[in-house]
Amino acid sequence: MNDLIPIVNKLQDVFNTIGSDTVDLPQIIVVGSQSSGKSSVLENIVQRDFLPRGNGIVTRRPLVLQLVNTHDSEDEKAEEYGEFLHAANHRFVDFSEIRKEIENETARVAGQNKGISRSPIHLKIYSPNVLNLTLVDLPGLTKIPVGDQPTDIEKQTRNLILDYITKPNSIVLAVSPANVDLVNSESLKLAKQVDPEGKRTIGVLTKLDLMDAGTNALEILTGRVLPLKLGFIGVVNRSQQDINGSKPMSEALKAEIEFFKNHAAYRNISSRCGTPFLAKTLNNILMNHIRERLPDMKARINALISQTQQELSSYGDPTVEGKSSRGAMILKLLTKFSNDFISSIDGTMV
Ligand code: GDP
Ligand code: NA
Ligand code: MG
Repeated sequence: MNDLIPIVNKLQDVFNTIGSDTVDLPQIIVVGSQSSGKSSVLENIVQRDFLPRGNGIVTRRPLVLQLVNTHDSEDEKAEEYGEFLHAANHRFVDFSEIRKEIENETARVAGQNKGISRSPIHLKIYSPNVLNLTLVDLPGLTKIPVGDQPTDIEKQTRNLILDYITKPNSIVLAVSPANVDLVNSESLKLAKQVDPEGKRTIGVLTKLDLMDAGTNALEILTGRVLPLKLGFIGVVNRSQQDINGSKPMSEALKAEIEFFKNHAAYRNISSRCGTPFLAKTLNNILMNHIRERLPDMKARINALISQTQQELSSYGDPTVEGKSSRGAMILKLLTKFSNDFISSIDGTMV
């Protein structure tokens, strides 16, 4: 089952090559108020520092982040790198350059001050250490305009977020800081608007390390406060001090694991807490979605094969250049795909 996402990625490439519609995969949309820890959660999932940081509103354009696992590819020896849609063919191997590029691209389109833009930045990260996922980082909700923000900045941000999370195929990753009362969580309020039954919302509770002594979030994490079908997952990200001191990601991850293992309230649920569990859960959600869509994908491939076969036989001699060689190429691609993968998909579906 774990091999399904690369298969679907290849399928998407096949559909791209022949100019057909691509497979409609869900995106995971990260929602939360400003400073709730959205960028930290994303960086933890990627296990790299690459997002702009700072006080105030930093994320000012949607960032569509596609993680591509390179573990099985011929590229295995390749370094981890990023690629932007707006700067295709340039490999960013230095992740601090990725941060700079996001900052420059943000300023170029959304201005130097605090304004936001709806136009997304597309970034692909290739790495053997990531699970295949598409995540979208969005500007955080703010109540009070700053800098040259328009007076309706809150409404603008809210509408931008709603545009993304209203799509039935989107998974809402609703980030809330544990040191603020959950009933005040802006992300959960928004999620409830588009997903009242809590079917496609996953709650992420950050800053568990910053809760008042003697309090904990066990009731929330075990679903007794607010029932979400996909559950609540607690995480501990790097503090500002950790970031200032350049605490390595790997160390932060170890510290997070230790935090849950040694905490009296979370010890018993520690295997269902933390960033690695969050990443695995998101990957599972994506795979279940793909599994639901498999019959439809198979039907489309089979229809394409017979359609191409018919076209080919109407051209006559398959060695003639032009249309028929393109048709033959497509047929070869599809048939290979069908043989290699559909059988393995069938295998995993039993
Ligand atoms: P965003 O605005 O939602 O993207 O929030 P950031 O990820 O930029 O985090 C805002 C601030 O909160 C930064 O100073 C982070 O270091 C800090 N922060 C985020 N998550 C945690 C956490 O789990 N624990 C602690 N101690 N600090 C956190
Ligand atoms: Na929030
Ligand atoms: Mg951010």
